[in-house]
Order: sequence, then C-alpha cells, then structure tokens
Amino acid sequence: MSVSPNLLDPTGAEQLLSAARETAAHAYAPYSGFRVGAALLFEDGHVATGCNVENVSFGLTSCAERNALFRAVSERGASHHIVAIAVMNLNNAASPPCGACRQVMSEFVAPDAVVIFPGDEGVEIRPFAELLPFSFHLTTK
Ligand code: THU
Repeated sequence: MSVSPNLLDPTGAEQLLSAARETAAHAYAPYSGFRVGAALLFEDGHVATGCNVENVSFGLTSCAERNALFRAVSERGASHHIVAIAVMNLNNAASPPCGACRQVMSEFVAPDAVVIFPGDEGVEIRPFAELLPFSFHLTTK
C-alpha cells in the first residue's frame, strides 16, 4: 500500500490510521485481547505495517510498532526516511506507543516525524521528539 506523504493533509493522516486499524485485525493477542496495529509512512509513499504478536511466555510478546519497524528494515533496509507513524487498536482505548517502542523508534525515526495515536482525549498528532526526549544515545570516546 502507499499513501500520500503529505501528512499535513488530514486525509493522509486518516488513511494511515486506517492502515493501522486494518493491520490490527491481524493481531495475535489471545492473552490480553488488546489488538494493535501500526503503520509507518515513508517519504516515498511506501507504507509498512505491523501488529502485536503475543506469546504464552508473556515477556516474548512483540508490539505492533516494533514489528512494523523490523518488518520495514527487513524488507527495504534502514536508509528510507519515515515521515509518520500511526498506531490504532480495536479496543476503543488509548494506545500511545510504549516506552520500549519509543526507544526502538529513536533508532529509525527522525525527531520531526509525526506520531498519530489514540490518546485519552481523542487522536493525538505529535512530533516524535515530544514522545521521547532524552532518548538513550551510545557515545563512545
Ligand atoms: N502493545 C503494542 O502492540 N504496542 C504498544 O505500544 C503497547 C502495547 C501490545 C502488547 C500486548 O500484546 C498488548 O498490547 C497489551 O499490552
């Protein structure tokens, strides 16, 4: 799938949320029942999606956002620029990306990329920099 990279256009944001919602239908979440989808929009219009995949050994569960990122890197490398990330769930609940996903995002997502997710008061659209100030950097001397 591909979406117009002009996310200032609300239609583009809604399309990306729809892609995330559709992907959430594939979630494997028999333990929590919480079904999440994520959709990444690249500057060339490409969209990569992922859903959460749970495991009976609960800690092995992998979130939708990380699955989308790892899928995108696996399919086309890490050199493509991500302009937006949408997260949606099928539970009518807030689902901002978890802290672990934010740290993984910081590896591949620029500070000005837009993150769209359901918050407590409705859909939030925030630059990634607001979601993870002071991300961990490895600085060696
Ligand atoms: N989950 C995600 O997919 N993304 C997040 O950012 C937070 C949580 C999933 C993991 C688990 O399968 C379910 O939601 C409940 O925590």
